[in-house]
Amino acid sequence: MESIKIAVLGAGTVAGGTFRVLTRNQEEIARRAGRAIEITLVGARDPAKARAVFGPGVAIQSDLFAVVEHPDIEIVLELIGGETLARELVLRAIAAGKHVVTANKALLAHHGNEIFAAAQAKGVMVAFEAAVGGGIPIIKALREGLTANRLSWLAGIINGTSNFVLSAMRSEGKSFAMALAEAKRLGYAEADPSFDIDGIDAAHKLSILAAIAFGIPVQFHACYTEGIGALELRDMQAAEQLGYRIKLLGIARRAERGIELRVHPTLIPSRRLMASVEGVTNAILIQGDAVGATLYCGAGAGAEPTASAVVADLVDVTRLHTADPENRVPHLAFRLDALVSTPILSIDDVETSYYLRLRVLDRPGVLADVTRILADASISIGAFLQHEPEENQDQTDIILLTHRALEWRVRAAIAAIEELDSVLGSAVLIRLEELA
Ligand code: HSE
Repeated sequence: MESIKIAVLGAGTVAGGTFRVLTRNQEEIARRAGRAIEITLVGARDPAKARAVFGPGVAIQSDLFAVVEHPDIEIVLELIGGETLARELVLRAIAAGKHVVTANKALLAHHGNEIFAAAQAKGVMVAFEAAVGGGIPIIKALREGLTANRLSWLAGIINGTSNFVLSAMRSEGKSFAMALAEAKRLGYAEADPSFDIDGIDAAHKLSILAAIAFGIPVQFHACYTEGIGALELRDMQAAEQLGYRIKLLGIARRAERGIELRVHPTLIPSRRLMASVEGVTNAILIQGDAVGATLYCGAGAGAEPTASAVVADLVDVTRLHTADPENRVPHLAFRLDALVSTPILSIDDVETSYYLRLRVLDRPGVLADVTRILADASISIGAFLQHEPEENQDQTDIILLTHRALEWRVRAAIAAIEELDSVLGSAVLIRLEELA
Protein backbone atom coordinates (compact mmCIF):
# COMPACT_ATOMS: atom_id res chain seq x y z
CA MET A 1 0.00 0.00 0.00
CA GLU A 2 1.15 3.51 -0.70
CA SER A 3 2.83 5.31 2.21
CA ILE A 4 0.93 7.93 4.20
CA LYS A 5 2.45 11.35 3.64
CA ILE A 6 3.28 13.66 6.50
CA ALA A 7 4.15 17.34 6.51
CA VAL A 8 6.17 18.54 9.48
CA LEU A 9 6.01 22.13 10.67
CA GLY A 10 9.24 22.97 12.48
CA ALA A 11 12.82 21.77 12.52
CA GLY A 12 13.71 21.80 16.21
CA THR A 13 14.61 19.16 18.79
CA VAL A 14 11.39 17.12 18.58
CA ALA A 15 11.21 17.34 14.77
CA GLY A 16 14.73 15.94 14.55
CA GLY A 17 13.95 13.18 17.04
CA THR A 18 10.79 12.23 15.14
CA PHE A 19 12.64 12.01 11.84
CA ARG A 20 15.35 9.81 13.40
CA VAL A 21 12.86 7.44 15.08
CA LEU A 22 10.69 7.15 11.98
CA THR A 23 13.73 6.44 9.81
CA ARG A 24 15.40 4.02 12.23
CA ASN A 25 12.26 1.99 13.00
CA GLN A 26 10.48 2.43 9.68
CA GLU A 27 10.08 -1.25 8.93
CA GLU A 28 8.52 -2.12 12.31
CA ILE A 29 6.37 1.01 12.31
CA ALA A 30 4.99 0.10 8.86
CA ARG A 31 4.19 -3.42 10.08
CA ARG A 32 2.24 -1.91 12.96
CA ALA A 33 0.51 0.87 11.04
CA GLY A 34 -0.28 -1.19 7.95
CA ARG A 35 1.44 1.41 5.74
CA ALA A 36 4.77 3.18 5.68
CA ILE A 37 4.73 6.62 7.30
CA GLU A 38 6.80 9.06 5.33
CA ILE A 39 7.79 12.64 5.98
CA THR A 40 7.72 14.16 2.50
CA LEU A 41 7.38 17.87 3.21
CA VAL A 42 8.75 20.20 5.87
CA GLY A 43 7.64 23.72 6.58
CA ALA A 44 10.38 25.75 8.25
CA ARG A 45 11.25 29.40 8.37
CA ASP A 46 14.94 28.47 8.23
CA PRO A 47 15.27 26.05 5.26
CA ALA A 48 19.02 25.53 5.80
CA LYS A 49 18.40 24.36 9.35
CA ALA A 50 15.59 22.10 8.17
CA ARG A 51 17.85 20.59 5.50
CA ALA A 52 20.46 19.79 8.16
CA VAL A 53 17.80 18.07 10.31
CA PHE A 54 15.90 16.15 7.60
CA GLY A 55 18.61 15.47 5.02
CA PRO A 56 18.18 15.54 1.22
CA GLY A 57 15.08 13.33 0.82
CA VAL A 58 12.33 15.77 1.81
CA ALA A 59 10.93 18.90 0.20
CA ILE A 60 11.32 22.05 2.28
CA GLN A 61 9.16 25.15 2.04
CA SER A 62 9.14 28.33 4.02
CA ASP A 63 5.47 29.14 3.30
CA LEU A 64 3.89 27.23 6.18
CA PHE A 65 0.31 27.87 5.00
CA ALA A 66 1.10 26.29 1.62
CA VAL A 67 2.52 23.28 3.49
CA VAL A 68 -0.61 22.62 5.57
CA GLU A 69 -2.82 22.79 2.47
CA HIS A 70 -0.60 20.71 0.18
CA PRO A 71 -2.84 18.20 -1.65
CA ASP A 72 -0.49 15.20 -1.16
CA ILE A 73 -0.41 15.56 2.60
CA GLU A 74 -2.76 13.60 4.86
CA ILE A 75 -1.30 14.40 8.29
CA VAL A 76 0.19 17.69 9.46
CA LEU A 77 2.65 17.34 12.33
CA GLU A 78 2.77 20.67 14.14
CA LEU A 79 6.06 21.13 16.00
CA ILE A 80 6.65 24.87 15.78
CA GLY A 81 5.33 25.61 19.28
CA GLY A 82 3.79 28.89 20.41
CA GLU A 83 0.15 29.75 20.18
CA THR A 84 -0.74 32.32 17.59
CA LEU A 85 0.76 31.08 14.35
CA ALA A 86 0.35 27.47 15.44
CA ARG A 87 -3.38 28.05 16.00
CA GLU A 88 -3.84 29.57 12.55
CA LEU A 89 -1.90 26.77 10.88
CA VAL A 90 -3.70 24.00 12.74
CA LEU A 91 -7.13 25.50 12.00
CA ARG A 92 -6.15 25.93 8.36
CA ALA A 93 -4.94 22.29 8.18
CA ILE A 94 -8.22 21.09 9.72
CA ALA A 95 -10.23 23.21 7.28
CA ALA A 96 -8.24 21.59 4.47
CA GLY A 97 -9.30 18.16 5.79
CA LYS A 98 -5.89 17.17 7.19
CA HIS A 99 -5.44 15.22 10.40
CA VAL A 100 -3.19 16.97 12.89
CA VAL A 101 -0.61 15.62 15.31
CA THR A 102 0.81 18.14 17.74
CA ALA A 103 3.13 18.26 20.74
CA ASN A 104 1.96 21.78 21.52
CA LYS A 105 0.51 21.93 25.03
CA ALA A 106 0.35 25.74 25.07
CA LEU A 107 -1.74 25.66 21.90
CA LEU A 108 -4.19 23.12 23.31
CA ALA A 109 -4.32 24.75 26.75
CA HIS A 110 -5.36 28.06 25.19
CA HIS A 111 -7.24 27.01 22.06
CA GLY A 112 -7.96 23.30 22.52
CA ASN A 113 -11.73 23.73 22.82
CA GLU A 114 -11.87 25.65 19.54
CA ILE A 115 -9.50 23.26 17.76
CA PHE A 116 -11.31 20.09 18.90
CA ALA A 117 -14.68 21.55 17.89
CA ALA A 118 -13.31 22.44 14.44
CA ALA A 119 -11.79 18.97 14.04
CA GLN A 120 -15.03 17.28 15.09
CA ALA A 121 -17.04 19.36 12.63
CA LYS A 122 -14.63 18.45 9.82
CA GLY A 123 -14.35 14.77 10.83
CA VAL A 124 -10.57 14.83 11.29
CA MET A 125 -8.37 13.77 14.18
CA VAL A 126 -6.16 15.95 16.38
CA ALA A 127 -3.74 13.74 18.29
CA PHE A 128 -1.58 15.15 21.07
CA GLU A 129 0.09 12.38 23.08
CA ALA A 130 3.39 14.28 23.09
CA ALA A 131 1.81 17.37 24.62
CA VAL A 132 1.81 15.87 28.13
CA GLY A 133 4.41 13.72 29.86
CA GLY A 134 6.92 13.52 26.96
CA GLY A 135 7.27 9.83 26.08
CA ILE A 136 4.78 8.52 28.66
CA PRO A 137 1.60 7.35 26.89
CA ILE A 138 -0.50 9.19 29.47
CA ILE A 139 -3.17 10.53 27.12
CA LYS A 140 -3.83 7.03 25.81
CA ALA A 141 -3.90 5.60 29.34
CA LEU A 142 -6.19 8.27 30.75
CA ARG A 143 -8.52 8.53 27.77
CA GLU A 144 -8.80 4.86 26.90
CA GLY A 145 -7.16 2.54 29.43
CA LEU A 146 -9.01 4.06 32.41
CA THR A 147 -12.27 4.71 30.63
CA ALA A 148 -14.26 2.44 32.97
CA ASN A 149 -13.39 4.54 36.02
CA ARG A 150 -14.85 7.52 37.79
CA LEU A 151 -11.61 9.35 38.51
CA SER A 152 -11.28 11.23 41.78
CA TRP A 153 -7.87 12.85 41.41
CA LEU A 154 -4.60 12.90 39.57
CA ALA A 155 -1.27 14.36 40.60
CA GLY A 156 1.79 14.59 38.44
CA ILE A 157 5.35 15.71 38.05
CA ILE A 158 4.67 17.02 34.56
CA ASN A 159 7.47 19.47 33.96
CA GLY A 160 10.80 17.75 33.44
CA THR A 161 12.88 20.92 33.62
CA SER A 162 11.68 21.99 37.05
CA ASN A 163 12.04 18.44 38.37
CA PHE A 164 15.55 18.35 36.93
CA VAL A 165 16.37 21.64 38.68
CA LEU A 166 14.90 20.55 42.04
CA SER A 167 16.71 17.19 41.86
CA ALA A 168 20.06 18.77 41.00
CA MET A 169 19.72 21.32 43.80
CA ARG A 170 18.77 18.73 46.38
CA SER A 171 21.09 15.87 45.52
CA GLU A 172 24.09 17.56 43.88
CA GLY A 173 23.99 20.89 45.69
CA LYS A 174 23.86 22.70 42.31
CA SER A 175 22.65 26.27 42.26
CA PHE A 176 19.27 27.03 40.67
CA ALA A 177 20.99 28.86 37.78
CA MET A 178 23.49 26.05 37.06
CA ALA A 179 20.79 23.38 37.08
CA LEU A 180 18.57 25.41 34.75
CA ALA A 181 21.45 26.07 32.34
CA GLU A 182 22.07 22.31 32.18
CA ALA A 183 18.38 21.62 31.46
CA LYS A 184 18.49 24.17 28.64
CA ARG A 185 21.65 22.62 27.20
CA LEU A 186 19.99 19.20 27.16
CA GLY A 187 17.00 20.56 25.21
CA TYR A 188 14.45 20.00 27.99
CA ALA A 189 13.46 23.60 28.67
CA GLU A 190 10.82 25.59 26.80
CA ALA A 191 11.85 28.35 24.37
CA ASP A 192 11.05 30.66 27.29
CA PRO A 193 12.29 28.71 30.37
CA SER A 194 10.17 30.85 32.69
CA PHE A 195 7.29 28.66 31.44
CA ASP A 196 9.01 25.72 33.14
CA ILE A 197 10.13 27.49 36.30
CA ASP A 198 6.91 29.46 36.88
CA GLY A 199 4.70 26.38 36.50
CA ILE A 200 3.03 27.59 33.30
CA ASP A 201 4.08 24.58 31.22
CA ALA A 202 2.80 22.26 33.97
CA ALA A 203 -0.48 24.21 34.08
CA HIS A 204 -0.86 23.86 30.30
CA LYS A 205 -0.48 20.10 30.66
CA LEU A 206 -2.64 19.82 33.76
CA SER A 207 -5.55 21.63 32.13
CA ILE A 208 -5.44 19.06 29.29
CA LEU A 209 -5.26 16.09 31.69
CA ALA A 210 -8.11 17.45 33.84
CA ALA A 211 -10.35 17.88 30.80
CA ILE A 212 -9.80 14.23 29.86
CA ALA A 213 -10.14 12.98 33.44
CA PHE A 214 -13.36 14.80 34.33
CA GLY A 215 -15.10 15.51 31.03
CA ILE A 216 -14.78 19.30 31.32
CA PRO A 217 -13.53 21.84 28.78
CA VAL A 218 -9.82 22.72 28.79
CA GLN A 219 -9.54 25.58 31.31
CA PHE A 220 -5.95 26.76 31.60
CA HIS A 221 -7.08 30.27 32.60
CA ALA A 222 -8.67 28.86 35.78
CA CYS A 223 -5.62 26.87 36.90
CA TYR A 224 -3.85 28.18 40.02
CA THR A 225 -0.15 28.36 39.14
CA GLU A 226 2.88 28.81 41.36
CA GLY A 227 6.43 27.90 40.28
CA ILE A 228 9.66 26.86 41.97
CA GLY A 229 11.47 30.20 41.75
CA ALA A 230 10.92 31.12 45.42
CA LEU A 231 11.85 27.72 46.89
CA GLU A 232 14.74 27.76 49.34
CA LEU A 233 17.21 24.93 49.95
CA ARG A 234 16.54 25.12 53.70
CA ASP A 235 12.87 24.27 53.14
CA MET A 236 13.89 21.32 50.97
CA GLN A 237 16.19 20.18 53.80
CA ALA A 238 13.57 20.70 56.52
CA ALA A 239 11.05 18.76 54.43
CA GLU A 240 13.55 15.86 54.23
CA GLN A 241 13.99 15.90 58.02
CA LEU A 242 10.23 15.57 58.40
CA GLY A 243 10.06 12.67 55.93
CA TYR A 244 8.94 14.61 52.85
CA ARG A 245 10.36 15.75 49.52
CA ILE A 246 9.34 18.86 47.57
CA LYS A 247 8.14 18.39 43.99
CA LEU A 248 6.41 20.73 41.56
CA LEU A 249 3.07 18.96 41.19
CA GLY A 250 0.07 19.49 38.98
CA ILE A 251 -3.02 18.38 40.89
CA ALA A 252 -6.58 17.98 39.63
CA ARG A 253 -9.09 16.79 42.19
CA ARG A 254 -12.83 16.33 42.22
CA ALA A 255 -13.99 18.06 45.40
CA GLU A 256 -17.50 18.45 46.79
CA ARG A 257 -18.14 21.91 45.33
CA GLY A 258 -16.05 21.79 42.19
CA ILE A 259 -12.72 20.78 40.74
CA GLU A 260 -9.36 21.74 42.18
CA LEU A 261 -6.89 22.62 39.43
CA ARG A 262 -3.53 23.70 40.77
CA VAL A 263 0.21 23.66 40.10
CA HIS A 264 2.57 24.44 42.97
CA PRO A 265 5.57 23.12 44.90
CA THR A 266 4.27 20.34 47.12
CA LEU A 267 5.66 18.28 49.99
CA ILE A 268 5.01 14.59 49.37
CA PRO A 269 5.99 11.71 51.67
CA SER A 270 9.50 10.45 50.85
CA ARG A 271 8.20 6.87 50.97
CA ARG A 272 5.92 7.38 47.95
CA LEU A 273 7.31 6.17 44.61
CA MET A 274 6.69 9.65 43.19
CA ALA A 275 9.20 11.12 45.63
CA SER A 276 12.05 9.18 44.04
CA VAL A 277 11.22 10.40 40.53
CA GLU A 278 14.28 12.52 39.76
CA GLY A 279 15.75 14.51 36.91
CA VAL A 280 13.76 15.06 33.72
CA THR A 281 11.53 12.06 34.50
CA ASN A 282 7.79 12.71 34.76
CA ALA A 283 5.31 10.69 36.79
CA ILE A 284 1.53 10.86 36.96
CA LEU A 285 -0.51 9.16 39.67
CA ILE A 286 -4.20 8.65 38.93
CA GLN A 287 -6.90 7.49 41.33
CA GLY A 288 -9.86 5.64 39.82
CA ASP A 289 -12.76 4.05 41.66
CA ALA A 290 -12.40 0.66 39.98
CA VAL A 291 -8.68 0.29 39.42
CA GLY A 292 -7.41 2.20 42.47
CA ALA A 293 -4.15 4.10 42.05
CA THR A 294 -2.01 3.70 38.93
CA LEU A 295 1.34 5.39 38.34
CA TYR A 296 2.83 6.25 34.93
CA CYS A 297 6.48 7.18 34.81
CA GLY A 298 9.08 7.92 32.14
CA ALA A 299 11.10 10.54 30.28
CA GLY A 300 9.10 13.79 30.30
CA ALA A 301 11.12 15.69 27.71
CA GLY A 302 13.91 15.24 25.19
CA ALA A 303 14.06 14.59 21.47
CA GLU A 304 13.45 10.84 21.16
CA PRO A 305 11.17 10.32 24.19
CA THR A 306 8.87 13.02 22.80
CA ALA A 307 9.26 11.53 19.30
CA SER A 308 8.09 8.21 20.74
CA ALA A 309 4.75 9.84 21.59
CA VAL A 310 4.56 11.73 18.30
CA VAL A 311 5.14 8.58 16.25
CA ALA A 312 2.55 6.69 18.30
CA ASP A 313 0.04 9.37 17.27
CA LEU A 314 1.11 9.12 13.63
CA VAL A 315 0.52 5.36 13.76
CA ASP A 316 -2.87 5.84 15.45
CA VAL A 317 -4.01 8.33 12.82
CA THR A 318 -2.71 6.09 10.03
CA ARG A 319 -4.71 3.18 11.41
CA LEU A 320 -7.91 5.15 12.03
CA HIS A 321 -8.14 7.79 9.34
CA THR A 322 -10.47 5.69 7.23
CA ALA A 323 -12.74 4.86 10.21
CA ASP A 324 -16.11 6.54 10.62
CA PRO A 325 -15.42 9.74 12.65
CA GLU A 326 -18.40 8.91 14.87
CA ASN A 327 -16.66 5.73 15.99
CA ARG A 328 -13.30 7.26 16.89
CA VAL A 329 -12.26 7.93 20.48
CA PRO A 330 -13.34 11.51 21.34
CA HIS A 331 -10.42 13.94 21.59
CA LEU A 332 -11.04 14.59 25.28
CA ALA A 333 -12.33 11.09 26.12
CA PHE A 334 -15.90 12.36 26.61
CA ARG A 335 -18.07 13.29 23.66
CA LEU A 336 -17.93 17.04 23.02
CA ASP A 337 -21.70 17.35 23.57
CA ALA A 338 -21.36 15.54 26.92
CA LEU A 339 -18.82 17.83 28.60
CA VAL A 340 -19.97 19.26 31.95
CA SER A 341 -19.50 22.74 33.39
CA THR A 342 -18.41 21.76 36.91
CA PRO A 343 -16.77 24.90 38.33
CA ILE A 344 -13.03 25.11 38.93
CA LEU A 345 -12.49 26.10 42.55
CA SER A 346 -10.53 29.18 43.51
CA ILE A 347 -7.34 28.41 45.45
CA ASP A 348 -9.04 29.87 48.57
CA ASP A 349 -11.50 26.98 48.51
CA VAL A 350 -8.91 24.25 48.08
CA GLU A 351 -8.45 21.89 50.99
CA THR A 352 -5.01 20.44 51.64
CA SER A 353 -2.27 20.24 54.27
CA TYR A 354 0.48 22.80 54.73
CA TYR A 355 4.14 23.23 55.61
CA LEU A 356 4.61 26.48 57.47
CA ARG A 357 7.98 28.04 58.37
CA LEU A 358 8.12 31.05 60.66
CA ARG A 359 11.12 33.11 61.70
CA VAL A 360 10.56 33.90 65.37
CA LEU A 361 12.25 35.41 68.41
CA ASP A 362 13.39 32.60 70.69
CA ARG A 363 11.54 33.63 73.84
CA PRO A 364 8.82 32.18 76.11
CA GLY A 365 5.27 32.04 74.84
CA VAL A 366 5.97 32.41 71.10
CA LEU A 367 4.95 28.88 70.23
CA ALA A 368 1.88 29.15 72.47
CA ASP A 369 0.78 32.32 70.65
CA VAL A 370 1.21 30.69 67.24
CA THR A 371 -0.57 27.47 68.14
CA ARG A 372 -3.41 29.42 69.81
CA ILE A 373 -4.12 31.25 66.54
CA LEU A 374 -4.09 27.97 64.62
CA ALA A 375 -6.34 26.29 67.20
CA ASP A 376 -8.82 29.18 67.06
CA ALA A 377 -9.01 28.68 63.27
CA SER A 378 -9.61 24.91 63.77
CA ILE A 379 -6.30 24.13 62.08
CA SER A 380 -4.76 21.01 63.53
CA ILE A 381 -0.98 20.55 63.74
CA GLY A 382 0.43 17.23 62.50
CA ALA A 383 4.17 17.71 63.10
CA PHE A 384 6.52 20.31 64.50
CA LEU A 385 10.25 21.04 64.13
CA GLN A 386 12.45 23.63 65.80
CA HIS A 387 16.22 23.84 65.76
CA GLU A 388 18.38 25.36 68.50
CA PRO A 389 19.12 28.99 67.56
CA GLU A 390 22.57 29.46 66.08
CA GLU A 391 25.20 30.71 68.50
CA ASN A 392 24.60 34.28 69.75
CA GLN A 393 21.29 34.41 67.88
CA ASP A 394 17.99 35.21 69.55
CA GLN A 395 15.99 34.03 66.52
CA THR A 396 15.12 30.67 65.09
CA ASP A 397 12.84 28.96 62.58
CA ILE A 398 9.85 26.95 63.65
CA ILE A 399 8.26 24.59 61.18
CA LEU A 400 4.75 23.23 61.45
CA LEU A 401 2.92 20.70 59.31
CA THR A 402 -0.85 21.06 59.46
CA HIS A 403 -3.59 18.56 58.85
CA ARG A 404 -5.99 19.26 56.01
CA ALA A 405 -7.61 22.69 56.14
CA LEU A 406 -9.23 25.15 53.76
CA GLU A 407 -6.70 27.51 52.22
CA TRP A 408 -8.58 30.71 53.14
CA ARG A 409 -8.58 29.65 56.80
CA VAL A 410 -4.85 28.97 56.71
CA ARG A 411 -4.16 32.29 54.97
CA ALA A 412 -6.22 34.18 57.56
CA ALA A 413 -4.41 32.44 60.42
CA ILE A 414 -1.02 33.22 58.86
CA ALA A 415 -1.94 36.88 58.53
CA ALA A 416 -2.76 36.93 62.26
CA ILE A 417 0.47 35.06 63.09
CA GLU A 418 2.53 37.54 61.07
CA GLU A 419 1.05 40.34 63.22
CA LEU A 420 2.66 38.90 66.36
CA ASP A 421 5.64 40.94 67.64
CA SER A 422 7.65 37.77 68.09
CA VAL A 423 7.21 36.69 64.44
CA LEU A 424 9.69 38.22 62.00
CA GLY A 425 9.00 38.80 58.33
CA SER A 426 6.66 36.68 56.22
CA ALA A 427 5.77 33.04 56.75
CA VAL A 428 6.79 30.46 54.15
CA LEU A 429 3.81 28.34 53.10
CA ILE A 430 4.13 25.20 50.97
CA ARG A 431 1.24 22.84 50.35
CA LEU A 432 1.51 19.20 51.34
CA GLU A 433 -0.21 16.15 49.85
CA GLU A 434 -0.07 12.65 51.33
CA LEU A 435 -1.11 11.14 47.92
CA ALA A 436 -2.75 8.32 49.83
N1 HSE B 1 9.81 21.99 28.88
C1 HSE B 1 9.06 20.80 29.02
C2 HSE B 1 9.51 20.08 30.28
C3 HSE B 1 9.28 19.92 27.81
O1 HSE B 1 10.54 20.44 30.83
O2 HSE B 1 8.83 19.20 30.75
C4 HSE B 1 8.29 18.82 27.68
O3 HSE B 1 6.98 19.28 27.55
